[in-house]
Amino acid sequence: MSRQREKPVAELGPRQAKLEHARLEQEIAEHDKRYHQQDAPTISDADYDALKRRLLEIEARFPELATLGGVSSRVGAAPAPGFAKVRHSKPMLSLDNAFAEEDVADFLGRIRRFLNLKTTDELTIIAEPKIDGLSASLRYEHGELVRAATRGDGQEGEDVTANVKTLKYGVPHRLEGKGWPDVLEVRGEVYMTREDFLAFRAAQEELAKEREARGLSAASIRIPVNPRNAAAGSLRQLDPEVTAKRPLRFFGYSWGEVSEPFTGTLSSVREKLASWGFTLNPHVEVCHSLEDLLAYYRKISGLRASLPFDIDGVVYKVDRLDWQDRLGFISRSPRWAIAHKFPAEQAETLLENIDIQVGRTGTLTPVAKLKPVNVGGVLVSNATLHNEDEIKRKDVRIGDTVIIQRAGDVIPQVVSVVLEKRPPGAKEFQFPTKCPICGQPAEREVDAAGGEDARRRCTGGVSCPAQAMEGLRHFVSRNAFDIEGIGEKQIAAFYEWGWIREPADIFKLTKHADSLRKKEGYGETSVNNLLRAIEQRRTIGFDRFIYALGIRHVGQERARLVAIHYETPERWLEAMDAAKEREGEAWGDLNSIDKMGDVVADAIVGFCTREQSRKVIDHLLAELKEVVPPEKPVTNSAVTGKTVVFTGSLEKFTRDEAKARALSLGAKVAGSVSKKTDYVVAGPGAGSKLAEAQKLGVTVLSEDDWLKLIGG
Ligand code: IVH
Repeated sequence: MSRQREKPVAELGPRQAKLEHARLEQEIAEHDKRYHQQDAPTISDADYDALKRRLLEIEARFPELATLGGVSSRVGAAPAPGFAKVRHSKPMLSLDNAFAEEDVADFLGRIRRFLNLKTTDELTIIAEPKIDGLSASLRYEHGELVRAATRGDGQEGEDVTANVKTLKYGVPHRLEGKGWPDVLEVRGEVYMTREDFLAFRAAQEELAKEREARGLSAASIRIPVNPRNAAAGSLRQLDPEVTAKRPLRFFGYSWGEVSEPFTGTLSSVREKLASWGFTLNPHVEVCHSLEDLLAYYRKISGLRASLPFDIDGVVYKVDRLDWQDRLGFISRSPRWAIAHKFPAEQAETLLENIDIQVGRTGTLTPVAKLKPVNVGGVLVSNATLHNEDEIKRKDVRIGDTVIIQRAGDVIPQVVSVVLEKRPPGAKEFQFPTKCPICGQPAEREVDAAGGEDARRRCTGGVSCPAQAMEGLRHFVSRNAFDIEGIGEKQIAAFYEWGWIREPADIFKLTKHADSLRKKEGYGETSVNNLLRAIEQRRTIGFDRFIYALGIRHVGQERARLVAIHYETPERWLEAMDAAKEREGEAWGDLNSIDKMGDVVADAIVGFCTREQSRKVIDHLLAELKEVVPPEKPVTNSAVTGKTVVFTGSLEKFTRDEAKARALSLGAKVAGSVSKKTDYVVAGPGAGSKLAEAQKLGVTVLSEDDWLKLIGG
């Protein structure tokens, strides 16, 4: 940020300090609103922290500027409209931040000075991960959960009781065990695991696609950008039934009002909370020195990528509660705790250009070309801009400074534009109306309801090299023809050398074997292996065959259903020809397949009957030896209708194989354990899913037990 040009606080005169303080207050309040109420921040966390730090520095020098209720004493933003308000019986505070090791040393020094401890006095600190979710306060009266509230501005939050009651993990509705006080407010973080987030995000994307396929608008389907965003959006749903479907969890870490105040240590309270049914973060450690704290920070930094949840730092807290009481608070945060933050996973950088990529189905996707920037340890130079409408909505222009965010395994995103840094004369981006690869028109489709698709598509079909190449990549991919030795690089090279234009050409590569052996990087053995891998795939499952064609809206699941329905390519193509007019018996029959709708059926019939794509199918069939009908799902196996979760590593099968087998026996395969799970098949290394199964009393099977159950 441009703040480096600012005067050091020590050099500010009272008038300058007053002016800058007022400006910072206003700026921070605006960012608080965007972050907390709109879930749409416009600056990076690091820059936000820098603004706050400067404000506090000014207040430290000119204490008269720190007004009661001013930004520095506030936490978050006032509650969003739509929920009833709850006044917290004790304010929900925030934490001061430490970024450098010296800040942590200062923290310990401050405590020792404040308590007047001797160097020989032991200062025990509890260290735990700082979860990136949203904080909530749960109030229990006589052991019953009576109220749950978000933090809001720290004084007043939103009443989310009905929503919190739908959480499946970590929130007891009635306290377990014994010895709990009549009134107990437990505070902690509502979060989503990374795995759940990815599945949820994929489901939202699928839902959006389904809606589009049915000709409905997908504008109402929010695609979350990270687990925190997903958790916040899910908890703040006005309809608790929606929240109930979201995989939210809760970690407890502190408390508010308690009718019989806790005594002793934080460690002992943690034990009590756990015994009353709360889930606490297991990665906690007891530390005794600065070295211990820093070692913990480094250890958790190293573990960060492999933890199941997002964290943005660690928190250090004084263990002795009497010392916590003596230390008390400075305006918005306790003196007895501090957050040692990790470098931000958001960053600001220059958007140098916008590239248009053309996908398999011809979709033109805008990609931001960025001045490379380090985002949470990864150098990012590309970020997706999704589509034409997104560019307009965010008003992104070439030359803009933008905020980039990287979360989990998701492709980096452009979050927003820093408007103050826009260069003069930056023009709006003109989205191309012609395919940048083949020059043929790129159009937005209009659905039956008159709504325009957000995506613009090249109308060139397989005559467009980009679509042809993407189609070929899809054709050889793992769930399609799965040809070992041919990936993205080889497809691009074979295409460039003019050897392949359509899938059937892959089976004719033998013709080019001699030329290939002469190319750099292709020896005798690798060419022979490649040819052997291709030969093996002349026999292929009918479901893979359909999926590999890359028909719009036809993923693995639909391909399988179509394959089961028609059994052979001949019967399928005959039926599609008969359905060409989109009416009559054959059309009705296609539409009767599960997960089919007019738009999907139309895409399938269109692909099979359009001259260009029909040739692709016919040429391919001419190269294949056998297309094997899929196994019909068994309806009377021991696991038909049962829900199974596989976890840990399996030794006799790959995960995909085990899953396919279970599906073919009529079982449902789920990704997470719930009360509805019938069996959890656990291999070595099984972790949280196994623990969850044991907790819920779900039957746990070894791989051998499972094999016995399904008959080997
Ligand atoms: S202790 C008096 N422990 O981070 C406040 N907070 O940036 C005591 N947070 O407001 C909070 N993980 O929402 C604590 N292990 C943890 C935490 C944690 C995440 C959140 C909490 C807090 C915010 C401060």
